[in-house]
Amino acid sequence: MSKYVVTGGAGFIGSALVRGLLRKGASKVVVIDNLLTGRAENLDEVRSSVAYHNVDVRDYEALAPILRGADVVFHEAAIPSVPRSIQDPVPSHEVNINGTFQVLRAAAAASVGRVVYAASSSAYGDTEVLPKVETMLPRPKSPYALQKLAGEYYCSVFAGCFGLETVALRYFNVFGPRQDPSSPYSGVLSLFIRAILERRSPIIYGDGEQSRDFTYVDDVVALNLAAARAKDVAGCVFNGGNGGRITLNQTWELLQKIEGVQIPAQYGPPRPGDVRHSQADTTAARTGLGYTPGYTFEQGLRLALEWFRTHPAK
Ligand code: UD1
Repeated sequence: MSKYVVTGGAGFIGSALVRGLLRKGASKVVVIDNLLTGRAENLDEVRSSVAYHNVDVRDYEALAPILRGADVVFHEAAIPSVPRSIQDPVPSHEVNINGTFQVLRAAAAASVGRVVYAASSSAYGDTEVLPKVETMLPRPKSPYALQKLAGEYYCSVFAGCFGLETVALRYFNVFGPRQDPSSPYSGVLSLFIRAILERRSPIIYGDGEQSRDFTYVDDVVALNLAAARAKDVAGCVFNGGNGGRITLNQTWELLQKIEGVQIPAQYGPPRPGDVRHSQADTTAARTGLGYTPGYTFEQGLRLALEWFRTHPAK
């Protein structure tokens, strides 16, 4: 019987991955989360199929026994957000770099079969060419981007020096059900969706002409499952994107069209550390992992809208 561990398993992406693993027939999934950004409710209807440990990923002594015997560890735990990492850089540095190091160290000591790491498209920074390909030189623009890139480098070093199979997936602006819209650091789509459902204006930072490759969360789950079973990928990095690109202005237009309302956005100053354009080249993930995105942006957006409509903020 396989043992899967998901760090950050009570978070937005981690809890979707837990559901994905259970759907694929995993009998028990082990979750590690300290509920700093995760939420216990995210695991509500799957709680009885989950072994939950309230552990901080920086705590090696607590991690080590939990990881023992694991076939795959999905390392999703992190303190996300570019602006958060600028306004309060110490916690994200500690968790994103040191936490990743401790997870890898514990995984190597426990002879874990594979670690699949949640890396970030922010590592690219601003590139002259789109879409962004894994062979481009990373140019992180924010502490968050650098921290996530350092985690990637640690993954490849653990593969090379300690024989630990690692795969890093550079997520491109993941969105969908359970993304938490309650903080100013929340992902933009959760904030836009909540704004449109409450019939109020969102704030767009800058001119709104920046673009993103928004990726539906179930696609990221499929990518992780593919990365967990692919052969000959130790130490490798793959983009986890949809392959498209849409500006924030177009995104807000689309939401207004779907909802049949007209609500002009408000504009604020551009955010420091913001990447201008982001779009994934998905070739490596297709050829190396056999992964093809299953949702167009609009399909994902409609699903996310319906989820938020039926799960209003408490
Ligand atoms: C970055 C990464 C992403 C990662 C995320 C984790 C890039 C290209 N992407 O996302 O892969 O998952 O960090 O936090 O680096 N915005 C508004 N109004 C708002 C909120 C945001 O206009 O209320 C704008 C931001 O200025 C930005 C865009 O929306 O231009 C997206 O912001 P956000 O959702 O925070 O994600 P990124 O920083 O792009």
